[in-house]
Amino acid sequence: MYRLTDAQRARVRELLSRMTLEEKIGQMNQESMSIVGGFDVPFEELIEMLTDGRLPKEEFDKIMSTAKTDYHEDEVREGLVGSLMVQDAEKYNELQHIAVEESRLGIPLLIGLDVIHGFRTVYPIAIAEAGTFDEKLFQRTAAMAAKESRSQGINWHFAPMVDVARDARWGRVSEGPGEDTRLASRFARAKIQGLQGDMSSPENYVAACLKHYVAYGACESGRDYNTASMAPAQLYNVYLPPFRAAVEAGAATVMASFNDLNGVPCTVNRLTLRQILKGEWKFPGLVVSDANAIRECVNHGIAADQYDAGVQAANAGMDIDMGTRIYIKELKRAVEEGKVPLSVIDEAAERILSVKMWLGLFEHPYVSPELAARYETLPEAHLALAREAGERSIVLLKNENGLLPLDKSKKISLVGKLAAERTEVVGAWALSWRESDCVSIQDGFDNAGANYRYFPCCGPEGELDQAQLEEAAAWGDVIVAVVGETTAMSGEASSKADITLPGKQRELLEKLLAGGKPVAALLMNGRPLALEWESVHVPAILECWHLGVQMGNAVASVLFGDRAPEGKLASSFPRMTGQCPIYYSHPNTGRPGGKGKFTSRYLDAGWEPLYPFGYGLSYTEFAYDGLEVKDAGDTLMVSVDVRNTGSRPGVETVQLYTRDVTASIVRPVKELKDFAKAALAPGEQKRVTMAVQKNDLGFFNDAGQYVLEDGKFIVYVGGNSRDCLSQEIEVTF
Ligand code: GLC
Repeated sequence: MYRLTDAQRARVRELLSRMTLEEKIGQMNQESMSIVGGFDVPFEELIEMLTDGRLPKEEFDKIMSTAKTDYHEDEVREGLVGSLMVQDAEKYNELQHIAVEESRLGIPLLIGLDVIHGFRTVYPIAIAEAGTFDEKLFQRTAAMAAKESRSQGINWHFAPMVDVARDARWGRVSEGPGEDTRLASRFARAKIQGLQGDMSSPENYVAACLKHYVAYGACESGRDYNTASMAPAQLYNVYLPPFRAAVEAGAATVMASFNDLNGVPCTVNRLTLRQILKGEWKFPGLVVSDANAIRECVNHGIAADQYDAGVQAANAGMDIDMGTRIYIKELKRAVEEGKVPLSVIDEAAERILSVKMWLGLFEHPYVSPELAARYETLPEAHLALAREAGERSIVLLKNENGLLPLDKSKKISLVGKLAAERTEVVGAWALSWRESDCVSIQDGFDNAGANYRYFPCCGPEGELDQAQLEEAAAWGDVIVAVVGETTAMSGEASSKADITLPGKQRELLEKLLAGGKPVAALLMNGRPLALEWESVHVPAILECWHLGVQMGNAVASVLFGDRAPEGKLASSFPRMTGQCPIYYSHPNTGRPGGKGKFTSRYLDAGWEPLYPFGYGLSYTEFAYDGLEVKDAGDTLMVSVDVRNTGSRPGVETVQLYTRDVTASIVRPVKELKDFAKAALAPGEQKRVTMAVQKNDLGFFNDAGQYVLEDGKFIVYVGGNSRDCLSQEIEVTF
């Protein structure tokens, strides 16, 4: 929990009183290390030239071979840098030593990094891990990442990303907890507890950073960085709650998002930053811009020039400028010209110093050699946790005639380039991993002692090797085809207008199926895919996402039946790309989708997703019965019997939804309110009980007021958002 003691607060105020205006603004400046060397254009321009083909790769590599990284040591020494990004303890100690020993006031640096789903021990991408519906697991993996990164000096994670995202065309769906507000809120809270919870030693906790504040996932058309427009009630009911939950859990920092929200970029948005975050929610921590976002306010057309952008951002409550140097160049003049009150600078500097004080950086600024070496070899416990998270994130989408689990002693043709690619298991936004730690799916087959032969055949890009395909189709008794996306096909700046299987992978599946052998498709991807054709023709489909360094072992464990699949989808899968955005918690409309022509549907794709939120099969079956909803004063007690009707053990995620049938604004047909796990042996039955606080049945109106309205509600309970038992109940508040 981010909170200062009175003594710490007094120390911050005393230090602040001794700082010059330049030094206060220096704290607001986050330098990005720049690549400098024998080229006469800015590094960003060099990258553009490489990307658009103006600069051949060989030429780029030659230039880079002589380049150096400038960490702006001189500015650090002058007290003009408050934070930086580095990835290793040696460079961390070097920079921290300059800040602490060589600057006038010795203020230590915040060192931030994008540790989104693990540092060295990379675990599943968030869209996958969220599908475990296990808050304890979310916390455990975050705590592991905090320890590993702190050993290299990183004391600030630009994580968790808690953007609700309902459009799978957006590449950053991979980075967050999916389409649902309640699951995202539980995920956000648990991640704060994991990153910031163990304050027994500064080695165990970091400052978390909630991002991207706010509604970045609502970017129009799923196109990254695009505008986001919505009714205020939608902002309050869908996109703000995960941030609020994490602020209430004690998050130390927040990162504003690139997008404009209803015409005002979040970087300079007084409503979201000052009125809601720092005002209504009384957020005590610091706010940092996203990379270059202050400068981009000129592109947005909200600022006339960089000076104007800096003035607007500071006055809106943006405490740290990531990467543009506008604050360090312009804010002194802005204060002298009366454009930015000195109180704004003092507030920002105090918030920044407070986070540093809370992190223990004034007492323990350096990383010892012992600590720096502590995780050089990944601890068995960390690998075991990554494997557990991987196994439990896997979602069984289809299993015709019980094809899975496979008997690993049978001849298996393992097909697909992704199966052997160790570097593809980590997924988007993994920065500090080592290939030597990565277990590919093929490695997993080896470790499991499977009887297989490997045939690359085809990847997400490039051609299909017909000869290998024919050999694969002939050799195995069963075929396992690993298909999906490369890591580069999801994450930032990776929106796609077509989310069917890329390249020739569908053709691969078609030709494999034509050979007559049973085919199981293992998906390695960073977003929901449009799998209509595959869902009809492929007998078994296992959603394996990008599971991190232990991917191969996790997949083998589920594929060969050591562990039953228990994952559920945190995001709906569309039938066709054109259905996006598609999500379960939608309004009913006046003509709800149905068989009739004049209903809200597509002529070529109906109205329902291929696989709904919360969906996931097991190697057994579960039956629900005996739903009971009791009004218990300020709560509704909801109970249901869940029985394992199959022949194998399994773990079910029991989901509880509600619907406010009639209200003063249109409300969704379902909203997730709670969930619980039920581990059941074959034939075993458990009665699962969950409580819904009546206060949880309200909603925000356009004025941002939370309202509770008497009336009819429906309670739904089931193993996904579509197939539920239901019961109506009249609720009065
Ligand atoms: C990126 C991302 C943000 C990340 C930041 C620093 O552009 O939008 O999520 O934390 O820059 O790397």
